Amino acid sequence: MRTGGQRPSKRGSRDARRSGAARGADAARAASPAPLSVVILAAGEGKRMKSAHPKVLQPLAGRPLLKHVIDTARTLAPAAIQVVYGHGGEGVRSALEVEPVSWTLQAERLGTGHAVLQAMQHIPDGHLVLVLYGDVPLIGRGTIRELLALAGPRRLALLTMKADDPQGYGRIVRSARGLVQRIVEERDATRRELAIHECNTGVLACPAQLLRGWLARVKPDNSAAEYYLTDVIALAVKDRIAVRPLIAPRVSEVLGVNDKAQLAQLEAVWRAQAARELLREGVTLADPARLDVRGEVAHGTDVFIDVNVVLEGKVVLGDRVRLGAGCVIRNSEIGADTEVFPHCVIDGALIGPGCNIGPFARLRPTATLAGSVHIGNFVEVKNSRLGAGSKANHLAYLGDARLGERVNIGAGTIVANYDGANKHATLIEDDVHTGSNSVLVAPITVGAGATIAAGSTVTRAVPAGKLTVARARQATIEGWRRPVKSKK
Ligand code: UD1
Ligand code: CA
Repeated sequence: MRTGGQRPSKRGSRDARRSGAARGADAARAASPAPLSVVILAAGEGKRMKSAHPKVLQPLAGRPLLKHVIDTARTLAPAAIQVVYGHGGEGVRSALEVEPVSWTLQAERLGTGHAVLQAMQHIPDGHLVLVLYGDVPLIGRGTIRELLALAGPRRLALLTMKADDPQGYGRIVRSARGLVQRIVEERDATRRELAIHECNTGVLACPAQLLRGWLARVKPDNSAAEYYLTDVIALAVKDRIAVRPLIAPRVSEVLGVNDKAQLAQLEAVWRAQAARELLREGVTLADPARLDVRGEVAHGTDVFIDVNVVLEGKVVLGDRVRLGAGCVIRNSEIGADTEVFPHCVIDGALIGPGCNIGPFARLRPTATLAGSVHIGNFVEVKNSRLGAGSKANHLAYLGDARLGERVNIGAGTIVANYDGANKHATLIEDDVHTGSNSVLVAPITVGAGATIAAGSTVTRAVPAGKLTVARARQATIEGWRRPVKSKK
């Protein structure tokens, strides 16, 4: 693990100059680190998103931007997470109500320094404070840990980045010896300062007591008339508190989202990262650029994923699972050796081993398939359970049904589970065969080994082991003549 910025030699000389007292305090922190409080700034309006929804709720890889930051913060096991939300941001709070965070309202949007100060009311002096941004969602836990290792009782750690295009960011002003002196916001910068490519990510860590003191001294004497969090850097330097920069190892981690173009850019970063990870773990991808992972994927060995597949939420793929082109799979588990043919939509399903699904099948929440089940084209399964070896190969709807083993559902079979007001259950026992185009009106039980004739509409219990026919009889009318057109 790297512990310093990009200037190890300078760091070394700085360490040599540090007082014995500071070293003692560092040792104390190493022995028992200060509790961590994370502050996440999320009071921004996000006007440039041009959306009716708050910026930090916009989804990235299927999760709100702010949720990404909260999830990452949680991996640090902090004492508390303080989210600062803004006027009109009640929707943010209610959308993420279940999160284990504390909410602080910043009633007036007076700047990043003012925003952090609101959260400081709830943070004890003895804590170490880490500031994160609700619109910088891809910050990695490894980078944060490196940053935290640089902070200490008398040290402020600052995450910076080297940007090809620094436009829009605050610039890091270093001394001739390379020590960070202050941050200048773009709108307040001179031409020389604008030429600096090292930028402020906004992320920093330092002791609560020091931060509180500095924030109280920050004044809105800048062109935006805002309380800048960035002004604490110059105050730290003035107070002879060491400012330790860490240059972010990957710029993509610290990119912010201000508009839909940047949101799409970060989605692409996420997509590429997720695909790379799967490849590294041995999953075969027909094209890593055409896989969307919007959640977590657990998998066995020799899994194959064809192009344009979307995986959302928690997806589990067993050994040798094959996913055909264009499948959308959400919160589902697929057993070993199961093949999903192209263009299936599978949501909340539990699929056993050795099944064949699709093409063009739809499995809806709580669909449960045992082993060796076949679900063919244009078959919809909703809240139903199919026993081992059962098949519904063409054009069928199975809703609220329980099927035994080796059941064969004929083409066009419909389980009519809904009477227009309520849903009812259907039980289809082992080895039943339903003929094509049969309708099973629920609630109903079909006994083991029963056969239902094609075109039947069954409304009462179907006895086991027999053929049940429930349709008009076929008749042929002797001597019948086709009408002929009358002459006018
Ligand atoms: C800020 C930094 C800049 C840095 C950039 C990185 C300051 C003064 N500037 O600029 O140096 O390069 O981030 O992206 O800090 N927010 C609040 N309340 C406020 C103002 C902002 O909660 O009153 C939140 C926003 O929702 C956002 C974050 O703070 O999550 C940053 O605010 P923003 O206005 O985007 O700051 P930048 O101008 O981008
Ligand atoms: Ca910003």
